[in-house]
Amino acid sequence: MQLRSFQLSDVHDVTQIWKMTASHERERETLRVLSNQLAVDRDLVIVAESYDKKVIGAIVGTMDGDTGFFYCLAVHPNYQSQGVGTRLVEALESRFWKKGVKRIWITVDEGTKKLLSFYRHLGYHNSCSTRLEKELLDLAIEKIS
Ligand SMILES: CC(C)(COP(=O)(O)OP(=O)(O)OC[C@H]1O[C@@H](n2cnc3c(N)ncnc32)[C@H](O)[C@@H]1OP(=O)(O)O)[C@@H](O)C(=O)NCCC(=O)NCCS
Repeated sequence: MQLRSFQLSDVHDVTQIWKMTASHERERETLRVLSNQLAVDRDLVIVAESYDKKVIGAIVGTMDGDTGFFYCLAVHPNYQSQGVGTRLVEALESRFWKKGVKRIWITVDEGTKKLLSFYRHLGYHNSCSTRLEKELLDLAIEKIS
């Protein structure tokens, strides 16, 4: 598997994955977030590609000052539980860190509720009932050592 920045030619494949994993309302919201972010910074939209060049997962990040936000993480159902989601999250954390982000927030809503235990597994914790949070301090320590 390899990770790379989103290209316009990925739109169809990524949309298909979101269709398989999210509700119809979420799909529209997801496309809105995607197009807004592509206009600002394509580096924060990452896709995972299988060895035979199929798009198998995607995540969208946005930034506000030194806070980063995750949206729309989804892995194709045939490729779940093989480490793809973890790799996407770690890659986006690393890109955020290089851009000066100090913490990541994830809004807890109907769409992300089912991802809560996955994110907790990766070190995110509830800072309130509607938000998961992770400080990127640990990433900094890893980079220094
Ligand atoms: C949740 C999701 C992103 C995880 O990605 P993945 O590639 O399947 O996960 P990984 O293989 O990286 O799993 C990493 C760990 O998290 C655990 N995990 C995976 N999915 C999980 C879930 N839904 N809940 C709890 N733990 C989960 C795995 O067991 C694994 O644990 P291990 O390291 O001890 O083996 C993926 O299953 C998915 O896309 N689900 C649908 C998402 C969705 O609806 N997105 C739209 C939201 S807007």
